[in-house]
Amino acid sequence: MGKVDPAFIQEPEHRPRISYIEGEGFPLIDLSPLHSNNVSAIEGLVKEVGKACKEWGFFQVINHGVPLEKRQKIDSDSRKFFEQSLEEKRKVRRTEKLVLGYYDTEHTKNVRDWKEVFDIAVEEPALIPASPDPDDKEITELYNQWPEYPPELRETCQDYGQEMVKLACKLFELIALSLGLPADRFRSFFKDHNSLIRLNHYPSCPTPELALGVGRHKDGGALTILAQDDVGGLEVKQKDGEWVRVKPTPDAYIVNVGDIIQVWSNDKYESVEHRAMVNSEKERFSVPFFFNPAHYTMIKPLEELTNEQNPAKYRAYNWGKFTASRRRSNFQKLNVENLQISHFRISD
Ligand code: OGA
Ligand code: NI
Repeated sequence: MGKVDPAFIQEPEHRPRISYIEGEGFPLIDLSPLHSNNVSAIEGLVKEVGKACKEWGFFQVINHGVPLEKRQKIDSDSRKFFEQSLEEKRKVRRTEKLVLGYYDTEHTKNVRDWKEVFDIAVEEPALIPASPDPDDKEITELYNQWPEYPPELRETCQDYGQEMVKLACKLFELIALSLGLPADRFRSFFKDHNSLIRLNHYPSCPTPELALGVGRHKDGGALTILAQDDVGGLEVKQKDGEWVRVKPTPDAYIVNVGDIIQVWSNDKYESVEHRAMVNSEKERFSVPFFFNPAHYTMIKPLEELTNEQNPAKYRAYNWGKFTASRRRSNFQKLNVENLQISHFRISD
């Protein structure tokens, strides 16, 4: 990545502060009651999840049931992949048509991110609309691209993806219960889920005060489960506007509410802005899993959560078209804001 190209430089108001505050009170939730049949422990857990979703939009989980070896394996394979030369990595590079694979030119809000990425669809082929145009009914089948090295990456990602889907389904049951809904209320949305694993590598950066590993953004999908290494850099925006850093906890996962939960819950749970700082000494790795519904899903506030006093705050939108539009703006620098759920908000 070399010298600092102006494309990486954040506007002054979005630059990170090098002296950061580490989030006190950032929720840490022990999921062990899930592996028991203790009804009152599960009720307590549901309350904790609900509170964390409402107050933070983010929480960490421990005793989540994902075997540590699977996490270590994806972490080490990711390091092996990114260690290779750019030339090697570009053999599996993403193009406008082949949207999965390697790339190092992602933009968030039209500023380049200080990172390189490898994207993998958990279910193959992944189906997404060919274009954001609502009249274009064509659906594209997406296939993963696999590098020659490390040769086991495919199997590692498949295994890890299955673990993430299991965990995400359990979390969704807790979220459903916390909203007063039946535990399986969200299940049908994920029958043909369109989820993604992303390997993130944030190289060390000579000017961490000017650039960001990922610029401020909200996750557009339903739920994100992130594994971060021990370097740290993830920052979450609190309700008072202050950015707080999420302290790495060994073997914990960071979970956050995405835009889709915000819409389904009619703003009861909000998708919160976050970003990743870079570091002048250390490189950093993270592995987010983005849990997304099927492309044909129409996203709108759940009927059970709306009524005359609390009418739906969003018009229905199609998830596939939403993501097709996002993908286009992430791929190249555009001079317009990318699509946000606020574009579907019904003004009161
Ligand atoms: C993301 C993201 C944060 C991180 O990829 O959407 O927010 O710490 N990543 O890598
Ligand atoms: Ni994110």
